[in-house]
Amino acid sequence: MKILMVCLGNICRSPLAEGIMREKITRYQLEASVDSAGTSGWHEGENPDRRAIYTASKFGIDISTLIARQVKPHDLDEFDHVYVMDTSNLEDVLALARHDNHREKIKLILDEVKPEGRSVPDPYYGGQEGFDHVFRMLDEACEKICKKMTGS
Ligand code: 4NP
Repeated sequence: MKILMVCLGNICRSPLAEGIMREKITRYQLEASVDSAGTSGWHEGENPDRRAIYTASKFGIDISTLIARQVKPHDLDEFDHVYVMDTSNLEDVLALARHDNHREKIKLILDEVKPEGRSVPDPYYGGQEGFDHVFRMLDEACEKICKKMTGS
C-alpha cells in the first residue's frame, strides 16, 4: 500500500501527515509506505517549516530531513491512496487525474474520520497553536486509516 499526503506547499501539513503516518506504519507493522508532495512547487527542495518540525518533535517524530517536492501526474499511477488536506488541493489534484482509477484514489484526509468534506486548515500564516491543532487532526485521521488497513 503506497500512500501520498498532499497539501499546497509540502512544508507544513503534508510533511506532518507523512511523519505521523510513517510512525504508525512502523508501530502497527503495516505493509505500507508514505510520501508527501505539494500542489505548488513554491518550496521545492526545502525542509519542512520549523514550526511543523517542532510540533512533530514534541511527539517524538523527526520530519526535519524531509524535502518538499511538487506533485506530478505520474504520482497518480504510483500511489494507491492520495490524501489531500483541503478542498483546493482536492481540485488541483483531481485536475491531474487522467481516468477514473486516478480519481478514485484522491480523497480529503479528514473524510476518513467523518465524510463531511472538511479541510485541514492551513497553519502557515498563524501561530504555533495552529500547528498543534493540525497535528491532532492528522493524528486522528492517520489512526483511522491504519485501523482500516489492519481490519480492526
Ligand atoms: P502547507 O502550508 O500547504 O501546509 O505546506 C503552506 C505553506 C506555504 C504557503 C502556503 C501554505 N505559501 O504560501 O508559501
